[in-house]
Amino acid sequence: MMKVYLETFGCQMNVSDSERIASVLASDGFEMTPDENIADVVLFNTCSVREKAEHKLYSRVGQIRKSKVRRPVLGVLGCVAQLEGETLFKKSDGIDFVLGTQASGRVSKAIENVFKGQKNYIDLEKREEDYDWTVAETQRHSPYVAFVPVIEGCNKFCTYCIVPFSRGREKSLPAADIVRHIIKLRRQGIREVHLIGQNVNSYRPMSDIKLEKFRGATAFSKLLRAVAETGMERIKFATSFPRDFHPDIVEAINENENLCNWVHLPVQSGSNEVLRAMRRGHTIESYLKKVDAIKNSPRKLSLTTDIIVGFPGETKKDFQDTIKMIEYCRFDSSYIFKYSPRPGTPAFDIADSVSPEEKKERFMELDELQKLIQQEIFKSYINRTISVLVEKISIKDSSQFSGHSTCHKVVNFKGSNDFLGKIVNVKITEAKVNTLFGSVI
Ligand code: 5AD
Ligand code: SF4
Repeated sequence: MMKVYLETFGCQMNVSDSERIASVLASDGFEMTPDENIADVVLFNTCSVREKAEHKLYSRVGQIRKSKVRRPVLGVLGCVAQLEGETLFKKSDGIDFVLGTQASGRVSKAIENVFKGQKNYIDLEKREEDYDWTVAETQRHSPYVAFVPVIEGCNKFCTYCIVPFSRGREKSLPAADIVRHIIKLRRQGIREVHLIGQNVNSYRPMSDIKLEKFRGATAFSKLLRAVAETGMERIKFATSFPRDFHPDIVEAINENENLCNWVHLPVQSGSNEVLRAMRRGHTIESYLKKVDAIKNSPRKLSLTTDIIVGFPGETKKDFQDTIKMIEYCRFDSSYIFKYSPRPGTPAFDIADSVSPEEKKERFMELDELQKLIQQEIFKSYINRTISVLVEKISIKDSSQFSGHSTCHKVVNFKGSNDFLGKIVNVKITEAKVNTLFGSVI
């Protein structure tokens, strides 16, 4: 049997795509292997959101081709594949085929064509109408947590972002399919689903089927209520786009215990000037109103965000506004990134006025502030008991287990093998900056 090694870079959507790529390959008679050294085929599912992620691909291709032991077929999939297309064959020696973000269902065909002797095989075409969004049980990233795509692509064209170019226009999956998918996952023993998409709350399906009987100010809040009714024990969703974040989402969470108490709402900057230049479609005032709605929920919702520092033209005053915003919002966690110019985006043509040193300083200042706030928030969990899905055993110590809370924090505790896959109550005894520690009660 032909062995395939598949490595994934980037976001949850890529992890989810890889699960389906592996499912297709397994059903077409390939065997997935975690060992690149014995693979007949090596696949990279790539990310292009920042320059660093893209560079990773080139260095990995180099490593594979340096190995003298064997010469596996090498395929590049995902965002870099979609954006670079033909040029990848010139940019990096040794790539056999390139498959775009919507062509992943045809991965077996690509491999077969290369084995037949076709050179520089490329497919950047659209997804099949009857594309199968399900994942084989054996190919899941976790036996207990499943990703369920609800919308793919992005129409927002924030000026710094490559995603609308790599993933194409927004396309919502039919609600009936999503609900059916989740009912099946529940039967298979999945305890937590993540509804995923670049902007889940921009969800706009072609038909209302399965949503008609649910209340909701938007199609997404109807979908949340429909999904909650499946009885899936824990439901999380990411990412939310601030402009489309209707307070009814908070209402839906308040009404349904199984909709988890976590919202990921990327703000990107605390300055209205920068937000305008980023073309985010929200002001800081409108963002803070949504934050207030989240914070006013009786359920104590955890709030996380993404921030970019050093966007072209970001002044010291703009940066101070971001600091003020962070102090106000007190995020449970933030992913802070230094602005990375992406060729083809509108911001790429704006002179990058913030020096690398200044970017680094701003990054470190935000990171430190976030850590301080986060440590206080995490410490406030000490002596509280929270519900945790036991996901894995620690690699270093087999008596240590780890999982996520409903508020999506990593929690470590002592346990035994029969805890795996169970939802347990953990009393928190210690808090580090990114992790909670406790014991099962
Ligand atoms: N530079 C830095 N960060 C970026 N992101 C998106 N594009 C860029 C870029 N060009 C960040 C945003 C987004 C997250 C997924 O990645 O914060 O929310
Ligand atoms: Fe990129 Fe903006 Fe779309 Fe998010 S909403 S994927 S930041 S263009």
